[in-house]
Amino acid sequence: MMKRIVSAAAGLLLSASVFAGGSQDSGAIKVGVSMPTQSLQRWNQDGSNMKAELEKAGYQVDLQYAGDNDIPTQVSQIENMIMGNCKVLVVAAIDGSALTEALKGAKDRGIPVIAYDRLIMNSDAVSYYATFDNYRVGLTQGSYIRDALQLDTEPGPFYMEIFTGPTDDNNTNFFYGGAMDILRPYIDSGKVIVRSGQTTLAQCSTLNWSTEEAQKRMENIISANQYGPSSNQLDAVLCSNDSVANGVTNALLAVGYTEENIPVITGQDCDKPSVKNMIRGYQAMSVFKDTRTLAAKVVEMVDAIVKGTPVDINDRETYDNGTGIIPSFLCDPVAVTIDNYKEMLIDSGYYTEADVAL
Ligand code: BGC
Repeated sequence: MMKRIVSAAAGLLLSASVFAGGSQDSGAIKVGVSMPTQSLQRWNQDGSNMKAELEKAGYQVDLQYAGDNDIPTQVSQIENMIMGNCKVLVVAAIDGSALTEALKGAKDRGIPVIAYDRLIMNSDAVSYYATFDNYRVGLTQGSYIRDALQLDTEPGPFYMEIFTGPTDDNNTNFFYGGAMDILRPYIDSGKVIVRSGQTTLAQCSTLNWSTEEAQKRMENIISANQYGPSSNQLDAVLCSNDSVANGVTNALLAVGYTEENIPVITGQDCDKPSVKNMIRGYQAMSVFKDTRTLAAKVVEMVDAIVKGTPVDINDRETYDNGTGIIPSFLCDPVAVTIDNYKEMLIDSGYYTEADVAL
């Protein structure tokens, strides 16, 4: 269990510098929310949840999406937020290392920055980080594959391929790292074989978390290694998220795999297409990160910063952005499969039945 620490001093310090002499009425305060893309379901949900929650708390919100993961657009949107009188910034970075210059302006004006979901690297303007426990996401995916293939009891060998996210997303290191901490010993012992030989993060990365890129790489791996339902055995594909899992699934279905024999595929986000694929028996699991929880936490952080009350954090050791450790709040990810999706996603009100109807 991680120790919950409350960062009172930091909150008070920031609020004193930003709001000295200003109104403490949160109704007057504008918050900038910068999201990476509208092309993936989760960021639309993150953005609209944040906006709704912040407005409910009395804030004015400048919510911007950076086209489809367009870095220059995100940079200029953030610059506009800084010049446009936003008092706090919440940023989900496209490229964690591309915002250093833009955020200097925030630092100069004493505008606190909360890194949302993805850590912003190499910037001392970042005050806090709110995310899900990314390492635990990876552990959850790796353990799922270990248990599904019964790696500890079955003789094997088993065959697996690995698909993760882009190297410019700091989360990728944690997803890949967590999963590989579980699976690497089996690869090293020869119980799990990666026929393609592609096991490093660089080899397994997927540009922009793109479904098409993942599909292309899986197609190449399938043909180079003769994987197929009636040719070479493939038991699992570790996929760090759902958009990547969808590309991998498409490639496997195209060579004849069915719900009866498709390899174990992991994912993350519980995006609607992946939930449908779980219901169809194509994708084995996804990791649910309830964006409502994260949005509510960030609104709480914004409010504490503005009011100068203690900011609730529960991790002070994991996330170093190159300028030092960033105090973080890590929410809990949960494994979702066909067995619990109704309870986790429908009963909780995250989706309606119709959202995931086939
Ligand atoms: C997020 C994942 C998401 C991925 C692609 C990551 O940084 O943590 O939830 O699937 O980006 O958008």
